[in-house]
Amino acid sequence: MAEVKDFKTVKVEKDQGIAWVILNRPEKRNAMNPQLHYDMLEALTELEVDKDSKVVVITGAGPSWCAGQDLREYFRGTDTNPVERRKASWASQEWRWRRLFTFPKPTIAMVNGFCFGGAFTPLIACDFAIAAEDAIFGLSEINWGIFPGGLVSRVLADAMCYRDAMWYIMTGDPFDGKKAAELKLINYAVPKEQLRDETVKLAKKLMEKNPQVLRAAKEVFKYCRNMDYNQAEEYMSAKGTALRLTDPEKGRETGMKQFLDEKTYRPGLGAYNREAK
Ligand code: COA
Repeated sequence: MAEVKDFKTVKVEKDQGIAWVILNRPEKRNAMNPQLHYDMLEALTELEVDKDSKVVVITGAGPSWCAGQDLREYFRGTDTNPVERRKASWASQEWRWRRLFTFPKPTIAMVNGFCFGGAFTPLIACDFAIAAEDAIFGLSEINWGIFPGGLVSRVLADAMCYRDAMWYIMTGDPFDGKKAAELKLINYAVPKEQLRDETVKLAKKLMEKNPQVLRAAKEVFKYCRNMDYNQAEEYMSAKGTALRLTDPEKGRETGMKQFLDEKTYRPGLGAYNREAK
């Protein structure tokens, strides 16, 4: 496994098409300080265009995925430094939401442990989330005098049902990975010792697909959520044309040829043969 670059608070390792992005402040339970926001922004920017990275997995070093914003360094530490606060806050929103939500490659949150407060933003931004059954989730803000801010309350509305979101926002009750799966906040939970293998299995499945089409598919779904029907129709029509013209694999034509002319496959049962000429 190749370690790509040594950031101060983030480790990036690459292995067989998967970029493992590891929040790396285990002694602080991977709480997000300003440096971590700057490091994550840089790491994701590089991975966006990195040819060796087909799928990005975000996980945490030690017993925690991410303990939310760093109360000492992100909040109190910038209370009297408005410039640093602005820079950190911008970087924080940029990587946790804007970059991740529409990242050009598939993204998986592999939640190995604690996931609190501000960590819900990248959790929900990722395309997939798989957690250890004993991971602990919590919207703890209510317990220390604030509400889930920094977009958390907004993105929760996309990822949790109204009753569940209100319950956890207003009680701050923690819940485990099994409950997170039941709430559909994550895709599924597995025993901790299977977490990595399950994540690799999903990443490999995604790597078998045409990457250009995969990108378009997630962009269409994610952007259209906030459009009205006319806008969505227009957007999808334009996007479909752009995809047909720019897909280096010409997946649409190849798929149709293999189904209609060559009768070599069934799209309902699997993907077209990307290697066939
Ligand atoms: N901000 C700043 N420091 C944090 C932190 C956070 N969000 N989460 C953990 N830390 C620090 C602790 O202060 C402690 O630092 P210290 O060793 O200098 O005292 C260190 O990380 C280890 O934390 P500790 O509480 O001893 O670990 P634990 O395993 O017993 O508990 C948590 C882990 C995550 C349950 C607990 O640290 C916690 O509740 N953190 C806050 C979570 C939160 O409310 N986040 C929302 C922020 S938006």
